[in-house]
Amino acid sequence: MQIINSPAEMQAISRAWAKGKSIGFVPTMGFLHEGHLSLVRESKHNCDITVVSIFVNPSQFGANEDLVSYPRDMKRDLELLEGCKADYVFCPEASDMYPKPYHSWVNVDGLSEVLCGASRPGHFRGVATVVLKLVNLVKPDYMYMGEKDFQQVAVLNTMLKELNVLTRIASCPIVREPDGLAMSSRNTYLTGEARQQALCLSKAIFNAKLMYKEGCRNVNSIITECQSIISSHGGETDYIKIVNPNTLLEELIPKDDSRIILAVKIGKTRLIDNASITPDTL
Ligand code: PAF
Repeated sequence: MQIINSPAEMQAISRAWAKGKSIGFVPTMGFLHEGHLSLVRESKHNCDITVVSIFVNPSQFGANEDLVSYPRDMKRDLELLEGCKADYVFCPEASDMYPKPYHSWVNVDGLSEVLCGASRPGHFRGVATVVLKLVNLVKPDYMYMGEKDFQQVAVLNTMLKELNVLTRIASCPIVREPDGLAMSSRNTYLTGEARQQALCLSKAIFNAKLMYKEGCRNVNSIITECQSIISSHGGETDYIKIVNPNTLLEELIPKDDSRIILAVKIGKTRLIDNASITPDTL
């Protein structure tokens, strides 16, 4: 496994990769968990070369968010990636990714402004910008991303398509803890009672799927039930919506391909989760 810090070196290496070799890329902010590792394994399975980036991207954090406290453990991350036989790990410095003064940003209108984008203005501008930069450095054929960040995948799919970037996103299923909690680096913030309270996200989703399975097609009834599960666990709902999976617009009547998607605060920790409303397993 080769570790690369300099963007110029990353670009020189990716330019030298022989044509005909498939390149898989897993962008991460580190503090890796089984969800990330499942993406690395998927890339290893499908591509000739697998590159993982570890970069806590400052531009996707708002002024009052957790950029400084975001969990980091580079030594452990590198050990885990070595164990998965990743070929390259790209870990640039913020000063190399955003040399000062910095001017160039990517906006994906519409999709970036709803759901998480409404609560975190500028978040998806930061995500789209850093991902386009990373894609330009790594030049992957496929980018492996988790469905937990459903809106992120939608925003980035649109960006790649509309900016004529040939990289395609392979979105992979959410990996959950045995009790249903979707894996996230931010779960490390959940101590004691908060860890139990956090189960309200998957419980609300599971209940929504059950209601749909039993024939309920009333969006308000489904959402009201979700809200009551969340508040009875001490969670604070940011949003709960049933949306079209492509446009992220709210559905008036849920359909088999609709997505139930939510963001909830457990104390100071903001968590997200989503699933298809169809009654398959979580
Ligand atoms: O999903 C993440 O970890 C980040 O948003 C990403 C895609 C690595 C961009 O910083």
